[in-house]
Amino acid sequence: MPKTIQAVRADRDYTGANWNTHEDNFTQTFYDQNLSQFWRPEDISLQPDLNVWNVLDPKIKRAYSLNLLVLTFLDTYQGDIGMPVVARSMDESFHQRKSVLNFMAAMENAVHAKSYSNIFMTYLMNDEIDELFVWGEKNKNLQNIMALIVGYYENLDKMTYQKRYELAFVDELEYKEAQWKAMVASVFLETCLFYSGFYYPLYFYGQGKLMQAGEIINLILRDESIHGLYVGNLAIELYESFSEEKQKELYAWLESYLNALYEEEKELIETIYDPVELAHDVKIFVRYNANKAMMNLGFDPFFEYEEVNPVVLNGLNTETKTMDNFSMKGNGYQKMKSESLKDSDFIFDQPKV
Ligand SMILES: [Fe+2]
Ligand SMILES: [Fe+2]
Repeated sequence: MPKTIQAVRADRDYTGANWNTHEDNFTQTFYDQNLSQFWRPEDISLQPDLNVWNVLDPKIKRAYSLNLLVLTFLDTYQGDIGMPVVARSMDESFHQRKSVLNFMAAMENAVHAKSYSNIFMTYLMNDEIDELFVWGEKNKNLQNIMALIVGYYENLDKMTYQKRYELAFVDELEYKEAQWKAMVASVFLETCLFYSGFYYPLYFYGQGKLMQAGEIINLILRDESIHGLYVGNLAIELYESFSEEKQKELYAWLESYLNALYEEEKELIETIYDPVELAHDVKIFVRYNANKAMMNLGFDPFFEYEEVNPVVLNGLNTETKTMDNFSMKGNGYQKMKSESLKDSDFIFDQPKV
């Protein structure tokens, strides 16, 4: 090494990810499941939906588009900061956990948010798409939801850097609390908030309409299901490490946090779904999924049990996956066939002059 170049940090040891041993009893299972259900936005053609889309009432098109826009915002931040922050906050020794979280992070924006954009690009004109994104930037409830979620990600991120690079003293208990709260935010996003947006595409899919978009939503939903379960597992492990007194305090925070999210969510649902007279039903669906999020976090349901609209349950394509996860790729989706590139693939015929 030339004398002028010095390692920035020579005072530490580096370790590698050894997949020959298990870090815990669930991470490698989630690794397998995540990779087995990998898909690409471009695998699903949206053109067949257009004959239905083109004859829909403008009010319906509006509600459909706004839902996908809300989903876009949630997935964007889940990919840009949510999953990466939780990954970064894991102790350095957890290389496998980090890899699973990073894989999930890549799906959020690069696959899920991109898929919503593909639907927009097929269904809408450019100026309509631009207007949608401006709507999202200005909608108070959506912005408040983002702030409630991303705020906890940013808080954990700041503390992670302070701790790792010794920029400030970070109390270990406070750090663990910040980590748990970010995981709770993540699970509520994955397993509850997404569902107000999923409702409408599922409502159509359950009636045999806009099937290609519905197929995409089902693929996304299948991913979000295991994301919520995995981060939920990490959150449960952390919660169990707190004293009983601290657990009570954190649970009280969780209840008020869920209430705060739900208040914003209710108004957002009314804005989007009142024009198509479905707000009441969507709120039931969100409460139903909030209870699933609570279960992912190791707690009892928070809301009373209610029956969900059977058309929407029908839209959950149980042929390709179930809400209870871990089903394998089904027959409704066929992954694009691909083969490895060979040198000969790069030998082209000379163009005729
Ligand atoms: Fe996602
Ligand atoms: Fe996710």
